[in-house]
Amino acid sequence: MVDLSSASAVVTGAASGIGEALAQRLLEKGASVVIGDLDAARLETAAARLDIDHPGRVSHVAGDAADPDHVAALVAAAGEVDVFFANAGVFKGFGLDATDAEWALSWDVNVRSHVLAARALVPGWLERGEGCFVSTASAAGLLTQLGSPTYSTTKHAAVGFAEWLAATYGDRGLQVVCACPMGVQTDMLAAGTSSDDADATLGMKSVVTAGEPLTPLAVADTVLDAVEAGRFFALPHPEVGMMYARKAADTDHWITGMQRFRTSLE
Ligand SMILES: NC(=O)c1ccc[n+]([C@@H]2O[C@H](COP(=O)([O-])OP(=O)(O)OC[C@H]3O[C@@H](n4cnc5c(N)ncnc54)[C@H](O)[C@@H]3O)[C@@H](O)[C@H]2O)c1
Repeated sequence: MVDLSSASAVVTGAASGIGEALAQRLLEKGASVVIGDLDAARLETAAARLDIDHPGRVSHVAGDAADPDHVAALVAAAGEVDVFFANAGVFKGFGLDATDAEWALSWDVNVRSHVLAARALVPGWLERGEGCFVSTASAAGLLTQLGSPTYSTTKHAAVGFAEWLAATYGDRGLQVVCACPMGVQTDMLAAGTSSDDADATLGMKSVVTAGEPLTPLAVADTVLDAVEAGRFFALPHPEVGMMYARKAADTDHWITGMQRFRTSLE
């Protein structure tokens, strides 16, 4: 298991929300952290804030997590990477009207960026006999995301890719953690709440009705617990595990329940 007190970590999508919280908790444990984000200005602010309490252990590289050159730059900045948090994500595209561009962006950021990071790191980790890949998927990847087919589908794919990595390399030194939170109090949730799109509003209502939105730091704690304990799933909302089990046990019944839930929110 990776020792977070001396680890070299990379976190994507870390200018805010869960990514920034992961970086903070990693620094508090003693790790060195490279943070990345598409939004260069907010990334710089986050890095400066984190540097106050942990001088010299955080660096930042702005760029697109779905660009292989950016992934290479993150890895180069970290030196030897012990743990990579594929956390950047987008929640774009609502209903069947979701555009091709929104589908493409969702695949790129929510799935392809994970593949690029694994491609860059797994061969070296297998040689070393250790390395840890942490995917921020979502409860939407185990259950579904009402209102957003793009988010629901690509987060299922993120879970699928993490499972594939674990099944293929998990017995050869690669640790894989798949984080599946429900609502988290971040800009992403706030953006949906203030949208005037009916499907976006439905999506956000479903998230906040299904369970109590957690703070990003609470989510980061559960994720890092899973890393340290060697568990595949990090479920900050434990009820997600129960819902997932119920879905597997009787999927027809679960879908009927989701239809009733959707109607109650419309
Ligand atoms: N907030 C929730 O309710 C919730 C629930 C489950 C899962 N998640 C997942 O958690 C992860 C983090 O989201 P968050 O809730 O902290 O939201 P957030 O909006 O605070 O953070 C997402 C960050 O990703 C960055 N980003 C977007 N596209 C990028 C790209 N192509 N390359 C690099 N960075 C990019 C954004 O600039 C932003 O800073 C996402 O993968 C999201 O899907 C969020």
